[in-house]
Formats: sequence, structure tokens, C-alpha cells
Amino acid sequence: MAMQRLATMKGQYRAKELLRRCRGFSWVAHRETIAHEIESPIPKMPPFDYAPPPYNGPSAAEILQKRKQFLSPSMFYFYNNTPLNVVDGKMQYLYDDTGRRYLDAFGGIATVCCGHCHPDVVKAIVNQTNRLQHCTILYLNPAIADFAEALASKLPGDLKVVFFTNSGTEANELAMMIARLYTGCHDIISLRNAYHGNAAGTMGATAQSNWKFNIVQSGVHHALNPDPYRGVFGSDGKMYAKDVEELITYGTSGHVAGFLSESIQGVGGIIELAPDYLPAVYSSIKKAGGLCIADEVQCGFARTGSHFWGFESQGVVPDIVTMAKGIGNGIPLGAVVTTPEIAEVLTRRSYFNTFGGNPVCTAAGHAVLKVIEKENLQENAHVVGSYLKERLNSLKDKHEIIGDVRGRGLMLGVELVTDRQLKTPAKVETLHVMDQMKEMGVLIGKGGFFGNVFRITPPLCFTKEDADFLVDVMDYTMSKM
Ligand SMILES: Cc1ncc(COP(=O)(O)O)c(C=O)c1O
Repeated sequence: MAMQRLATMKGQYRAKELLRRCRGFSWVAHRETIAHEIESPIPKMPPFDYAPPPYNGPSAAEILQKRKQFLSPSMFYFYNNTPLNVVDGKMQYLYDDTGRRYLDAFGGIATVCCGHCHPDVVKAIVNQTNRLQHCTILYLNPAIADFAEALASKLPGDLKVVFFTNSGTEANELAMMIARLYTGCHDIISLRNAYHGNAAGTMGATAQSNWKFNIVQSGVHHALNPDPYRGVFGSDGKMYAKDVEELITYGTSGHVAGFLSESIQGVGGIIELAPDYLPAVYSSIKKAGGLCIADEVQCGFARTGSHFWGFESQGVVPDIVTMAKGIGNGIPLGAVVTTPEIAEVLTRRSYFNTFGGNPVCTAAGHAVLKVIEKENLQENAHVVGSYLKERLNSLKDKHEIIGDVRGRGLMLGVELVTDRQLKTPAKVETLHVMDQMKEMGVLIGKGGFFGNVFRITPPLCFTKEDADFLVDVMDYTMSKM
């Protein structure tokens, strides 16, 4: 008991000390002084030939005041002590209101895949906006048809019918409804620690208490997470798959509507599903009459480097694929792709979405596909991502606080723990490193159930020099702790 109290007090002291340092100390302000005090040089951001236009808008403080007064109090933001006013972007870089450049290693939450304001995507949006911004799908227009054709060509097997939505939540809601209609069953299985959206059905499929409100969420069973780092069966995918079989046997009528999962959990902290998991689960789901849904909202569109879609790394072909984020490089767009036979179910009633598939968004989506191909972004995600992961793994050898490095391509996670054996989440330290990295010019994301995982999901045009800068800054910051 006494030992436990002592450990807690020590933890609290360390947390307070770190917070004090976070608040009272800025690398930028003290750069000159620090330079004399340290042996290792301050890492330098790779050069980049772009100067954003001058900014004449309101200050960060004014914006914050307006947010507090006029926007939902639920809206949170990073860097609580010095929130960042981001006003410009170019490729893998963002600029604040003073014109300062930051390396964007979060990509607007795995959304900006081609690069900020990529000229081809901007051109497609501007050209389409000048010509026709909205007309409704009740008339014909080439943008939606051309993009649907191009998108379908990127999917395997019979996955050839596309429904456009405005977001990932909408795409997953639609996919779940289609599975229920097609099978006549209600039960859906998703994974613990998943994030699939925040509307009624998708909040049910989401399985992290901090993203779930206490409202009716029916018909979803949450299976054991096949998490190689924290999961009960380690990397044994087939053992986790047995849990799905048991859920079907004991928790349902024996028949299910489907199984929904990400291929790499994003919000949950960049967790790759244990090897061999999906083939075994897909087989159980099919036996129970269900459809397999792959949520590719974060890991689709070449982000994982080895493949265009995340599910391909486990050698499965889903019945339904949902996507958003990277599909539009930041424009609001989502999609559900399925087979002609399954798609038929929506003809039983009218299904309509005012903005889904509008000309501007689909023109942007089409441009994104062309850029990914033209600029070999999948290959780049593979090459630079593998290099970055290797360097992060070397950093793990150096810093005890890094418990795990994981992920694929340019979807990487770095989990911080205060004790490698116990895997105690290093929450305060994560915030501290994140703040200091921002002060040194690197923006990374944060997630995982305990908020102790760095999420590295930059635009896919990230270079090896960017990767070096990120790792050097992380190393520098951790060395100062
Ligand atoms: C895997 C996954 N699915 C679905 C969603 C929901 O997408 P949206 O925020 O566009 O509704 C998210 C959002 O982060 C996500 O990461």
C-alpha cells in the first residue's frame, strides 16, 4: 500500500514538473541560450522554396475567444497553452499566422494525402467550381460518373458500385445499413478500441468510452482487439479470431449482419491487426451469413505504402469498403463501394444524399487519384515510411520511454510508456514531447485510448529529409526530459 502511494506521489511529482516545464519554457524564445548549453546541434528543417502570403486576419487569441463564444464547447484543440493558428499550407508544410513553417506529420488527421493545396487538386476544384458547383444527382454530370469509374478500378473483385457520402461516419452508417438490409440480420461485430464515427449506428460500432455518449446504441458486439502490443494473445491473430466465433455462437442468433473493422486502427493509436486475423474472421462471418466491411477511412488511398488499401495486407477481399479522409485530400467526401448484387438492396426504398457525389468534391477526388499515380505516392509512402519506421525503432533503442513503434507506410505510431514491462501509459510525457516538437517546428498527432501514442500520418509526399528532421527533433526533445 505504502509503496503504491509512494509510486503515485512520484508519478504526480514528475507530471507536475513536466507540466511546469511545458508551461514556462519555450525552445523558440530560448533558442540562442540553449544552443550554448547543449552538445547536440538543434535539428534544422529541410529547406523549402515557398513563402506564404502575408496574413492580416485576427490573432490566435481573438480566434480562440470567438471559438469559446460561438462554437460548441465540445471542440477541443492541440497545444492548449499556445494553440496554433494555421493559416497557410503547401505540400507537407503548414504555416502559422507569423509565416513560420511547420513540418506537418499529422496531415489533418491522415486526410491530406497529396500535400496541402496540391496544385492539381486545387485546379480541379477551381475549374469545377467556376463551371458548376452544385446541381443535384437528379441531373447527369460527368464528374461523379468519371470518378466512380476511376475509383472502382482501384478495388479488387466485384467491388464495382460506388455510393458517395460527405464523411466517413456517413459512409460507415450506410455500410452498416446495407449489411443489415442484405442479410436481414441486425447484429454487427466490431473491434474494441475501434473508431468508426459518431452518428447513432457508428457510435455503437466505435469502441472507446471517450468517444461514446450514453445514448441508445444497439446491435453491435465488440470483439477482443487483435492488438499485438497490448492484446491478450499478442500477435496470434487466429486466437483473437476465435473470440469472434464465440461472439457469434453465444452473443447472437448464430446469424449476423456483418463485421466492421479498420485494417490499422487510427484513432485507437495506429494498431495493426495481428497477422492472419482477418482471413479467419472473414471466414467465420461468411459462415454466419454476414458481410465483411473494411473501414479504409484512414488507411486507404496508398497510405500504408505496401498496398493501396489496408485490407490487402491481410489478403482478404471485403464485401463492402468504406472510405473518406484521403479520398479528397481535405475536401468533404466519403464513399461506400460494394458489389452490384449487394448494392441492389438500396433500390427497395429511395436512398438520397444532397451533397454526396457533388461535382466539386468528385472532381477533387478524381484529381487525387491521378496525383497518387502520377507522383508515385504509394511507392513514396512505402520507401519513406519504411525508412522512418527504421529510424524510430533506433530511437526506441535509445529512449526507454518509447514502448512500441508500429504501423506501415506513412501511418506510424510511437507509444510512450513510463515502464516498458508494465506498459504504463506516459500521458503527461506525451503531451510534453508533442508541445516541444511543435516549438521546434514539427506537428504530430496523438491518440490511443490513453492518449499516449504519437500518430504520424503526414501527406504522402513526405521526404526522407523530413523523416530525418522529425526523428532528430523527437530525439532532441526526449534527450532533454
Ligand atoms: C477509421 C475511421 N472511420 C470513420 C471515421 C469517421 O470519419 P468522419 O470524421 O469523416 O465522419 C474516422 C474519423 O476519424 C476514422 O478514423
